[in-house]
Amino acid sequence: SSGTDRELRAPICCILGHVDAGKTKLLDCIRHSNVQGVEAGGITQQIGATYLPVENIRERTSLKAEATIKVPGLLVIDTPGHQSFSNMRLRGSSLCDVAVVVVDITQGLEKQTIESIGLLKRRDVKFVVALNKVDRLYGWKTCPNAPIVKALKSQSDDVQREFKWRVAEVVTQLKECGFNSALYYENKKIKEVVNIVPTSAVSGEGIPDLLLLLVRWVPEIMMEKLTYADTVECTVLEVNEVKEFGTTIDVVLINGALKKGDQIVVCTKQGPVTTSIRHLLTPYPLKELRAKGSYERHEELKAAQGVKIVARGVQHALAGTSLIVVKPGHDLEQAEAAAMQE
Ligand code: GTP
Ligand code: MG
Ligand code: NA
Repeated sequence: SSGTDRELRAPICCILGHVDAGKTKLLDCIRHSNVQGVEAGGITQQIGATYLPVENIRERTSLKAEATIKVPGLLVIDTPGHQSFSNMRLRGSSLCDVAVVVVDITQGLEKQTIESIGLLKRRDVKFVVALNKVDRLYGWKTCPNAPIVKALKSQSDDVQREFKWRVAEVVTQLKECGFNSALYYENKKIKEVVNIVPTSAVSGEGIPDLLLLLVRWVPEIMMEKLTYADTVECTVLEVNEVKEFGTTIDVVLINGALKKGDQIVVCTKQGPVTTSIRHLLTPYPLKELRAKGSYERHEELKAAQGVKIVARGVQHALAGTSLIVVKPGHDLEQAEAAAMQE
């Protein structure tokens, strides 16, 4: 088949990089939110999941209405860059389809940038580099939310020269990590050579480029992987108490569908816990799963989504483990064994 009639799910895109490279701020710029501003010490300490519907992406990229986007949206996973949270970077990189490695252009590749690239390399996860903080180049003239090529054209020769040598530096550093890379608008081999997208999370230059690249390039390189499948694939992020609902678990639904009332099994240190989904919640689009707020209720949800599940007995569910759905008539023991794997 031509592939045009396939149902694609939203790609799961993990944001990785060194502490303070601007991962959360980039997401804030895309969502028009201020998650970074309220983090303790400006440091991310948890994994976040945000659904970006395709309509918002269209709006940000000024794509013509008739231009096709093959995916319904992007599920973006924010991770901490602080060295002590390598477990969360591992978790994020394990459940994503693609990654954005955020690099501060004034710093180049740093310790956790290299660690993150190593994680992606090991799992053979494709990634793009967001070369962030271009507005910090000395003398940068702000062009709010402009495509990067346009923004660069309005810079002085000095700024353009500094930009060029800093890009060259990062290209050299990526080469040392084993990757060929190029500015995405000069890249002729987008399947083999890592795309670099210069951005500013403060003034928004390059943000349209980053979003457009993700929604176009990702389905192109992994049509098969993004084809919606019925088999549930679901990873637990964390356990949360929510006033209105009691104990909830935040999960990333990678594939398949979850229904209210589904029998599920989660993994705890004490063994498998079998329970059922009492409520199926999501944050509103562009809101983060980890942010406190109001939730939308659903009878059924299809992947990919960040989901909050209300269920009895899940308070000891372990982060990073799989949540298993027991279909009517299926073997519970087998499901329990699957939940306890890894
Ligand atoms: P961790 O999650 O703690 O690893 O950090 P992070 O990568 O999410 O970086 P964060 O978004 O917390 O940004 C760190 C600091 O850099 C904040 O003070 C941001 O305002 C600033 N910052 C981020 N992006 C940019 C940018 O593009 N330009 C400028 N000038 N500052 C930025
Ligand atoms: Mg952050
Ligand atoms: Na930070």
